[in-house]
Order: sequence, then C-alpha cells, then structure tokens
Amino acid sequence: MIRSHRATEVTPDHIGEEVVLAGWVQRRRDHGGITFLDLRDASGLIQVVADPEQHPVAEELRMEYCVRVTGVVRPRPEGTENPNLATGTIEVAADGIEVLSTAKVLPFMIDDRAEVEELVRLRYRYLDLRRPKMAANLRARSRATAAIRRTLDDLGFLEVETPTLVNSTPEGARDMLVPSRLRKGEFYALPQSPQLFKQLLMVAGVERYFQIARCYRDEDFRADRQIEFTQLDLEGSFWEREDVFDAIEQVLAAVVRDLRGVELSLPLPRLSWQEAMDRYGSDKPDLRFGMEITDLSDIVAGSEFGVFAGAVGSGGTVRGINVGPVDWSRARADELTEKAKTHGARGLVWMVAEEDGSVRSPVAKFLSEQEIAEIRERLEACPGDVLLVVADRWRTVVDTLGALRTELGRPQSHEDLAFLWVIDFPMFEEEEDGSITFSHHPFTSPVSIDAMREDPKSAVAKAYDVVVNGVELGSGSIRIHDPAVQREVFEILGIDRDTAERRFGWFLEALEYGTPPHGGFAFGIDRLVMVLQDEASIRDVIPFPKTQTGVDPMTGAPTQVAAEQLEELGILLGPEALERLEN
Ligand code: AMO
Ligand code: AMP
Repeated sequence: MIRSHRATEVTPDHIGEEVVLAGWVQRRRDHGGITFLDLRDASGLIQVVADPEQHPVAEELRMEYCVRVTGVVRPRPEGTENPNLATGTIEVAADGIEVLSTAKVLPFMIDDRAEVEELVRLRYRYLDLRRPKMAANLRARSRATAAIRRTLDDLGFLEVETPTLVNSTPEGARDMLVPSRLRKGEFYALPQSPQLFKQLLMVAGVERYFQIARCYRDEDFRADRQIEFTQLDLEGSFWEREDVFDAIEQVLAAVVRDLRGVELSLPLPRLSWQEAMDRYGSDKPDLRFGMEITDLSDIVAGSEFGVFAGAVGSGGTVRGINVGPVDWSRARADELTEKAKTHGARGLVWMVAEEDGSVRSPVAKFLSEQEIAEIRERLEACPGDVLLVVADRWRTVVDTLGALRTELGRPQSHEDLAFLWVIDFPMFEEEEDGSITFSHHPFTSPVSIDAMREDPKSAVAKAYDVVVNGVELGSGSIRIHDPAVQREVFEILGIDRDTAERRFGWFLEALEYGTPPHGGFAFGIDRLVMVLQDEASIRDVIPFPKTQTGVDPMTGAPTQVAAEQLEELGILLGPEALERLEN
C-alpha cells in the first residue's frame, strides 16, 4: 500500500506509532535547521517535521509536489499547537520522504485568499479544485446528491435514466443539436429536461420516478445559468400538488440538514404568484428582507403631478418602496433611474424624507402637502429614508420596483435561508407581439379547463416554483393527462393540429392508453448547492463549467473538427461559419 492513513485519520491515539502518508506539499517552512511541511490530502492537513541534514530531499520540496512520508506521530511541543486544524495537536517526525511527482511553478496559489481571474482558474481547473473552498464545494455537491438519493429511495421512488439523444423537448430554450451519421440530414436534440420521458414513465406505471438528470439549453449564460446543468427531476402518479410539495420538502430538508446542519421549518411558506408580484415585484421574491411594494394610487389619483394622475387615470398604478436611509446623491439617483428604464419604466421619482415632514424631491413642488404626508405615512418613512415611486401599467411598475428592491436590499451572503413556494402561476404569458406562450411548459394543467377556454389570458395553472433567497430553485406542475385537453392547449399556443401531430403525435398517442393523473417537479442541483455553499455563481459548484461565452478554457471546447468528420455527417459549413473561422 502506498499509505497507511489519510492525513486527518491520524489522531493523538497514534502517538509513538509509525504512519505512512501521501499527499501534496501545501507549504514548506525552514526554521532553525528544521523543515516543516504542511502535507495535504483529500481529507485535510497534517504537519510533518524533517531534519534536512538527514533528509536533504526536504529542502528540494516545492509547493504542490506530490510526496510520500514515513514517520512517527508525536505531540507538538507545548505552545505550538494549532487549534484551527483537526490534526493541530500532533505532528509526524519524518523518517523517510519520497517524491512521487514534482510540480511546475504554479499559475496561482492553492489557497482561498488568492484572488485569481476566473479564466485562469478554469484554464487550470485541476489546480483550482485543490483549493479548500472548491474541494469543499465538490464534497457538498456529492453529499447533496447522496441525501437526495437516500430520501427518495426511502420514499419508494425508482431512479430511471432517460435518453440524452432525443428529439426536441419544449422548455422554452434553444435546443443543442447532434447530427446523425447514419441518417444524414437528421439531428438529435439533447434534452432540455426529461419532461416527456418522465410523463411516459407515468403512463408506463412507474408511479414514482426520479433522476439526477443532465439537461442542455442553448441559452445566454448568467451567474445562475449554464448550457449544461443538472436537475433533480421527479414525477408521481395519482398525485396532487400536496404530494409534490411533500416529496420536494423532504428532499430539501435532507439536503439542508446535511450541508448546513439546520432543520428546515416545514411546511414552507406559500405565496400566490399574484401576491408575490404585488408585494415583491418578482415571481422569485427574496423574503429575507421587507421593503415591500406599496400602492399609492389612491393618494395621487387627483394629483397636480401629471405623471402620477395620468397613470392612474389610464388604468395604471402608482407604487413605491421605502429603501431606508441609504446614501443618496445625484449620481445614485441617475443610476437607479437608468436601471428603472431598462425595465420599461419611463422614469423614477425619488423622495428623501426630511425632519420637518416634507420631502426633498425633484417633483416635490408638484405634490400637495397632504399627498406628501400620506405618501410618507403609507411608506412608513422616517427622516432620512429614501422613497422610490414608479407610475405606469401594473406589470411595468412591479417589475421595476421589484428589481430596485433586489438591487438595494439583497443581503450579500446566503447565510440565512428563506425558502418558499410560489403557487398559482398564470397558465400563459403574452409576448410583445401579442402572441401567447406558455409560462411553465405546454404540458401543465390549468386549474379550470372551462375558465381557460373562456379567457386563456387570465387562466391560472397548476404550476408552482420553489424559491430560495431570490433564486428560482425549481419548477413543477400537475400535468395534463387527457389528450383532448393537451390538444386544446397546443391550439391556444398557436400549434395547429398538424404541427402538434407531427411534433408530439407519439406523446399524444401515449396519453390515449390509460394515463394516470400525475405531476412532478425539477430543481436545479447546481443552484441549490450554490446557495447552500454561499457562492455567487453556479460555476463555483460545477467541477468543469463553461465561461460566460460558452468556452472551456482548459480543453478549448468548442473546437473545429476535421473535414472528414463533417463529410461523414453530411455537413457543409456555411459562409458565416467559414468567415468566423478565418478571423
Ligand atoms: P424548468 O425549466 O423550470 O422546469 O427547470 C427547472 C430548474 O432547473 C434549473 N435550470 C437551470 N440551471 C442552470 N442553468 C440553466 N440554464 C437552467 N435552466 C433551468 C433551475 C430551474 O428552476 N421539466 C420542468 C420541470 C417539471 O415541470 O417537472 C423543467 O425543466 O433551477
Ligand atoms: P418629466 O416630467 O418626464 O421630466 O419627469 C419628471 C420626473 O418624474 C423625473 O424625475 C422622471 O424621472 C419622473 N418620471 C417620469 N415618468 C415617470 C413614471 N412613469 N414613473 C415614475 N417617475 C416618472
């Protein structure tokens, strides 16, 4: 055997015994003729002490050399113990040191303090993953999936793998395509989720399915988005919403217990989509802080200030938030007004509450004393508080104030956790061109089929999200199990009968064979681990992620392929591709 113990398996019980350790040189210090090594392996650190006269190799060891050390465990001299280290009361006096492999000069230090550019970290990801925080993230992720499997196994779920070379699954993103060699001109799509296959498993009688599923969506990158990511996907038959909630809550509680050591208080709070939008201006509200949106329409309906009165008069609304005693300057006001405009608002009114009951604001002169007093009271303004007000149609107002609320109120870390369910999502959304699209996916059941037929635009879906700290963690719904209703929904979505048959005929046919009522859910494991590990980006909890531009700086993917490979697939590059490759 190469070693007898892992570093942190060595304890004071081993004092006087010989151990053989193997790992990396985290640090070497030379002190009055003695060499100290911090030896690191996957379990942690232990101190090795060597006399360089006896072991000249000790002086040749550089950072991240991979070594094997034989030595006797002894207590550290009094006063030199390190309480921050599991092995801090002992050390190993080296009898032999063997270099297993050397390391080049490192591109960055293997510790959490070094600020390293992400591109460099990804270029040398194998070194980045040696850093304690990243190694801890890998372990946390593994514990999370273990807790998920344990919980669902106990609940009688079957883990089933579904294919990853499929045809398009409509989740609203662009598909990633894979050309077929045997059927030139035809393409597989990588799954955006296992949605249709898990529904087929319900038709197949599985009743309780789960999968830790890799999903692919060719969408723009963000801190919480990658083109490939992992879902915990599950589905149950003879299920209603409460069955889904129960299973998901148990899974979340198990993962939070394992990663954070705390008990989630269940059941999680619930907020309807309408209430979430009204109070927080978001369908993924961050409940760790207040700063709720407040309706001021009645106060300013008859105001001399045309912007306010006009908005109310034309069926819109005037609402505000109290962002507290923040530093306020012209520049800050301009910056937030610009931000408001990116959400479609035509402007932003700001007011600073003064000691004397008035407000300092560019529009103060247009508002009556009574209006100002009532606005202050409604927003519970204390002197020094900054109030932000937007007047427009409802959706623009709540979207804008919601974004400002997040920007100004969101805690920096994920130390506290505020989970909730957002329920009763609208069935459909209206696109800018007036067309109707699904808000979850086209397989979601409406609360009432009759109401949907009457007025699709205000139909409510049996759809729900789990949100934590302002992050959309997952979504699910009760599905349509009646093929006739499924056809109707396709029609409302503008998918005509022929197209529906061509694209989903196989699925609609499956629904004709005794389909049980069913529903399910999927959450992003990357996002869950990101929040629980208090990281700002899912890239920090994905072992080998892509950059914001979809590139792996280490392997260089995506890369060009040999001309023969393209020929075999029957693919010719078009002028746009050729031009890009030349430049
Ligand atoms: P949805 O599309 O909402 O639902 O996805 C569920 C969860 O998957 C995660 N997720 C992502 N994570 C990282 N990068 C991405 N690009 C990305 N896209 C989605 C999110 C999201 O909440 N089939 C349905 C679920 C169902 O109805 O059962 C679905 O996929 O955390
Ligand atoms: P204006 O009359 O367009 O010069 O706007 C006067 C003030 O009202 C400016 O501070 C604008 O930013 C603000 N404002 C304009 N339109 C709106 C709106 N729809 N909602 C909130 N504030 C607005």
